[in-house]
Amino acid sequence: MGAIAPASRALARAIRDEVLRSEPGVLIEVGAGTGAITRALAPALVALDRFVVFERDPEFAELLRASFPQLEVLNHCASRVDLLTMAADTPVTLVSSLPLLSMPGDEARDCIEAMLTLIARQPRSRLIQYTYAARHLRPFSGIPAGWRWRRSASVWANLPPATVWALEQAPLSHNGIH
Ligand SMILES: C[S@@+](CC[C@H](N)C(=O)[O-])C[C@H]1O[C@@H](n2cnc3c(N)ncnc32)[C@H](O)[C@@H]1O
Repeated sequence: MGAIAPASRALARAIRDEVLRSEPGVLIEVGAGTGAITRALAPALVALDRFVVFERDPEFAELLRASFPQLEVLNHCASRVDLLTMAADTPVTLVSSLPLLSMPGDEARDCIEAMLTLIARQPRSRLIQYTYAARHLRPFSGIPAGWRWRRSASVWANLPPATVWALEQAPLSHNGIH
């Protein structure tokens, strides 16, 4: 099992608040680790169509299955997240704890591509990613046209301090130009 710093309750709450900001639809958490964020999100299950967890580490996946028997826990790499099937009109809220900056470059690229493919495919979808980098730095660049990063929260009480970002479709301006 890898050494990781579990998210604080304050960070988990900030992510839950962002998830509930609009209709979550199918909630997917990738890189759930010890389940610190999953624990804050699980009570929202009543308002959700479905809650699926991707965790690549088999021991963490087993721990998550034992702790959250009501969730679909998949011991898969997040680069497979776009293979999930669901109704074409269902929104997806994707919560990522993936350490994108410290993962091997190829793996980070594959995961980002799969996450972007999924949220672009499903209407009204969003990606919520937190980072420990400086708060002005977006989690990654190269997002598709018509999408934007919004800084949702800065959580100083987390160690290290974290920034929660939401990748969402930019609202159309009244003349139809993004
Ligand atoms: C920063 S830790 C997660 C922290 C988690 N939020 C917690 O509080 O425990 C990152 C997690 O992502 C998982 N992970 C890393 N690369 C992955 C990948 N490509 N696909 C799925 N999970 C991955 C790791 O096994 C680890 O559990």
